[in-house]
Amino acid sequence: MADSETSVGSYLEKIFSLSGKVILFTGATGGIGSVLCKGFANAGASVALCDVGAGRLAELEKEISAEIPEESKEEGQDVSSFPLDLTRMDDIKNCVDQVAEKYGRIDVLFNCAGINRREGLLDVEESTYDRIMQINLKGLYFISQEAAKHMRKAGKGNIINMASHNSVGMLGGCSVYGATKSAVTALTRSMAVEWAKFGIRANAIAPGHILTPLTTVTWEHPTRSRYLKERIAMERPGTPEEILGTALLLASDASAYMSGMMVHIDGGCLAGGVPWDFDTKY
Ligand SMILES: NC(=O)c1ccc[n+]([C@@H]2O[C@H](COP(=O)([O-])OP(=O)(O)OC[C@H]3O[C@@H](n4cnc5c(N)ncnc54)[C@H](O)[C@@H]3O)[C@@H](O)[C@H]2O)c1
Repeated sequence: MADSETSVGSYLEKIFSLSGKVILFTGATGGIGSVLCKGFANAGASVALCDVGAGRLAELEKEISAEIPEESKEEGQDVSSFPLDLTRMDDIKNCVDQVAEKYGRIDVLFNCAGINRREGLLDVEESTYDRIMQINLKGLYFISQEAAKHMRKAGKGNIINMASHNSVGMLGGCSVYGATKSAVTALTRSMAVEWAKFGIRANAIAPGHILTPLTTVTWEHPTRSRYLKERIAMERPGTPEEILGTALLLASDASAYMSGMMVHIDGGCLAGGVPWDFDTKY
């Protein structure tokens, strides 16, 4: 039993290990981000935790360090935090340069930061429009550009962008958010085609409805949560942990020939949700 566990473990490790990889992760302290950063560190990566909010960043760094005892760390593995406000171009450049300088390279850029404000198309004011666009799209665009400059020099790199179910399917009151997330998938394809010659690949993850601080308001809402459950075949929200397996696949060399793709993780939402009534013996 122990032998077979060991051989399965080392087989999986050979394919999916992140040992030796440096990951710059934006939105690290968020509901999905913090779970993925812990997962990446547990899979052997050095993770540069990047976000606004120095206090929460320091806490997360401590939590991750406590989870991985010194003796089980990979050689040279390190988790550290870097302040990053994606609305500031100088912050973006400083953050990328600092991470590249500390670790000597950036193997994976994981663009997870994102915001939403639920307002109707006729209600959205310019300041809201600009803020969502700045963080979800402009910030992601320019941090990818900065990171790609380092990746090009290294002759390899990997970019993972957080898209959304709203990249393709709309809910009411998400017009600006949905537009940014559709643009993120278009941008992912541009990165894949323009940067392949530099050894850089790019893919996107499109979570469906995941329970995090960003979406608690929806899942606690009396009518919206019923509306959502009917549209998800599994009739429940996903958890950030249920995003991790796909994130590990995309960050590891197991997906080395995969580029320009968007992977949906949505409990059967895009497939059609809860079926209508039909005759069946079961
Ligand atoms: N939760 C869901 O159901 C869901 C579904 C689809 C897509 N997503 C996407 O997944 C990602 C993470 O979402 P979440 O649910 O964990 O949300 P969250 O609000 O918990 O996390 C968002 C993160 O972005 C960071 N951020 C906000 N403004 C920033 C700025 N100016 N500069 C740098 N970082 C900033 C926040 O500090 C936070 O850590 C987002 O891109 C979101 O759009 C979430």
